[in-house]
Amino acid sequence: MLAELSPALIAEVKLATQLLASKQRICILTGAGISAESGIPTFRNKQTGLWENYGVEDLATPEAFTRDPKLVWSWYQWRRQMVADKAPNPAHHALAQWQYHAQTSDQQVTLITQNVDDLHEQAGSAVTHLHGHLWRNRCGQCEIPYQDKSRASYDNQGTMSFDETLLSCPHCDGYIRPDIVWFGEALPVQAWQAAEDAAANCEVFISIGTSSLVYPAAGLAQLAKQNGAQVIEINPDPTPNTIVDITLAEKAGIVLPLLIEEITAL
Ligand code: OAD
Repeated sequence: MLAELSPALIAEVKLATQLLASKQRICILTGAGISAESGIPTFRNKQTGLWENYGVEDLATPEAFTRDPKLVWSWYQWRRQMVADKAPNPAHHALAQWQYHAQTSDQQVTLITQNVDDLHEQAGSAVTHLHGHLWRNRCGQCEIPYQDKSRASYDNQGTMSFDETLLSCPHCDGYIRPDIVWFGEALPVQAWQAAEDAAANCEVFISIGTSSLVYPAAGLAQLAKQNGAQVIEINPDPTPNTIVDITLAEKAGIVLPLLIEEITAL
C-alpha cells in the first residue's frame, strides 16, 4: 500500500511511524479537512469552502443571530441537510481503529475535533468537540438544551428535509439556536480544559485537516511543542503552522489508514 505514495511521502510516513511507535501519549486535533472526503465542504478551501461563499459575520456570530435569527437558523438547517447523509471516511475509521487498538497497548490516543459533525463518533471514536455539535440545539437566551427530533421530514423519494421555521424556547420564549460555538464566543469550559491538558501532556501532537488559523484551537499545537512534544501535520496543502516536525502532505483518507496500519502492526 505504501508503494502508492511518492518516495518523499513514504519516507515521512516511516519517520512518523517510528516516532509514534516509541511514544505513549498522543494528542490529535482534527479540522474540517478530515470530513472533506466524506463530502462535507471545508470552510476555507478556495471555491468550495463555506466561508468563500458565505459571510462569517452574517451567519456565525451571536450578533448575526440577534440581527436575523431566521437567516442564521435556515443556514444551519441547510448545513444539517447537507451533512445528514454523510458517512465516516477511511480517515475517521483509521483513528477509531487506533483508539480501539490503544485500549490494549500502552498508548493513550486523545482525539479532539473542531468539527461539529459526528463522523468521529459514527466511526466509533471517543472525541472532545471544541466547537459544539451540529445536531444539538439550545435556547439562545436561557441556554437550556432543546430536544426536538421531529424537525427533519422525508418526502416519498426518502429525501430528508429540515424545517426552516424558527423555534421558541418552552422556558423563556427565546429563539432556539444550534449548539455551536460562534465567532466571539467562548469555547465550552470542560472541552477546552480537556484539550489543553491533553496537548500540554502529550509526546506527539498530530494536526489533521485544519488550516490552523482559528484560535484558541490553533494554539494547541504550540502548547504541545512548548511542553516538549513533536508535531506531525497531515494536510495536502501548506498551512501557517511553523512548528511542524513531520509533514504528511496528502489527504487524510489516504495517509491515515496507511500510517495506522503500520503503527498497529508493530
Ligand atoms: P478550514 O476550512 O479552515 O481548513 C481545512 C483544512 O483542511 C485546509 O487546510 C485544507 O488544506 C485541509 N484539507 C482539505 N481536504 C483535506 C483532506 N482530504 N485531508 C486533510 N486535509 C484536508 O477548516 P478548520 O481548520 O477546521 O469554526 O476551521 C476551523 C474553524 O473555522 C471551524 O471549526 C469553524 C470555522 O469557522 C466554527 O464553526 C466555530
